Amino acid sequence: MRFALYGQLADEFGTPLWVIDEEKIRTNYRKLKKALRANYEKIKLYYAMKANSSLSVLRILRKEGACVDTASPGEVLLALRAGFSPSQLMFTAPNVRNEELRFLLDRGIKINVDSLSELRRLLKIGIPDFISVRVNPGVGAGCHPYDVLGGKGSKFGLSKEKALEAYEVAKHSGITRYGLHMHIGSGILSVKPFLKAGRKLLELAKEAHQGGIEFEQIDFGGGIGIPYKPEENEIDIEDFSAEFLGLFKQKIEEYGLGSPTFAMEPGRCIVGNAAVLLTRVNTIKNTSSKKFVGVDAGFNTLIRPALYRAYHDIVLEKSAEPSERCDVVGPLCEASDFLALDRNLPKVEEGDLLVVKNAGAYGFSMSSPYISRPRAAEVLVKGDRYELIREREGVADLLRHQRIASWLE
Ligand SMILES: Cc1ncc(COP(=O)(O)O)c(C=O)c1O
Repeated sequence: MRFALYGQLADEFGTPLWVIDEEKIRTNYRKLKKALRANYEKIKLYYAMKANSSLSVLRILRKEGACVDTASPGEVLLALRAGFSPSQLMFTAPNVRNEELRFLLDRGIKINVDSLSELRRLLKIGIPDFISVRVNPGVGAGCHPYDVLGGKGSKFGLSKEKALEAYEVAKHSGITRYGLHMHIGSGILSVKPFLKAGRKLLELAKEAHQGGIEFEQIDFGGGIGIPYKPEENEIDIEDFSAEFLGLFKQKIEEYGLGSPTFAMEPGRCIVGNAAVLLTRVNTIKNTSSKKFVGVDAGFNTLIRPALYRAYHDIVLEKSAEPSERCDVVGPLCEASDFLALDRNLPKVEEGDLLVVKNAGAYGFSMSSPYISRPRAAEVLVKGDRYELIREREGVADLLRHQRIASWLE
């Protein structure tokens, strides 16, 4: 833990502050790529930029040779600005508007369609070279019910029957290049759900293939988790790769699918442990039932604890053993505004700097200016070098898009 640096950065740039470690991102990416490549030649990793869409993070991953999974026109524009070419981008999102489909078609971006409705609307606008269908393989998994995106009742993807219908529709429209896609959830720490869902996806690939579809790419989505809690273990990525690609290779051979690209869309496992959130304690409140540690980051800054009851390790530069049970709470007027509940920490005092760990995924990208608190700044660190990569928002940002109605002047 780089406490001296964190203290310096907090003094220089203020808090709350995101601190991103470039080397960690590179290491995470390389490790996953290497493990997958060890088992199959044709691998493509589309970094799921919804996890962290900072331009510098995107640029690091472009330099590493990644492609990108985008989920909105805004993400597409950011990825292009970071230097990716349209051919390196994929688009995967539910409930896409027609003008967004036109935007993607105009730029030649590969689309994972999420419904027959979307496919039919797309084909009325134009015929893409390539189409991929997002399938719900009937299996979901994730670290919280809101992180489970496959299985019964999920709004995502098409059932097997509907997916086969989609390929028929696509084939009759003249499309010649095909992909297949699933994303079953997020924060998964075992290979089992991937194997179970992957098997279903590959069975579907077989049926579509029998109907004349040649797959260029089969995309198994994101979802590889990271350990947040002390008792959780990292997924062994070499084992994961050997097992998952073992299944993939066996089935593509058995089903005669040729040698499609094996794609994944990792987000969390690339950036999750690569950033911390620094937040300063301003208030200590002891009540008859508990101690509250009041900090300057609430769910406007890091929403994961409020939204998913997510656990983030919190440390402070005190050598003492944890001795006090407290709630770490933010500055918002909401009962759900907490970073940690009933957490054992060393004695915390006003002015202490807290380091919220593993905050790189779905941190800044899910933050908001709720209660008119402008969003926090980001700093990128590389060894001893650091640089501000996103300025702290200010009052001007709160005012920028609004005006008072003329009749109220
Ligand atoms: C379609 C899709 N792909 C990839 C991801 C990335 O998931 P993760 O960050 O768990 O790897 C997500 C996240 O929700 C997603 O919706």
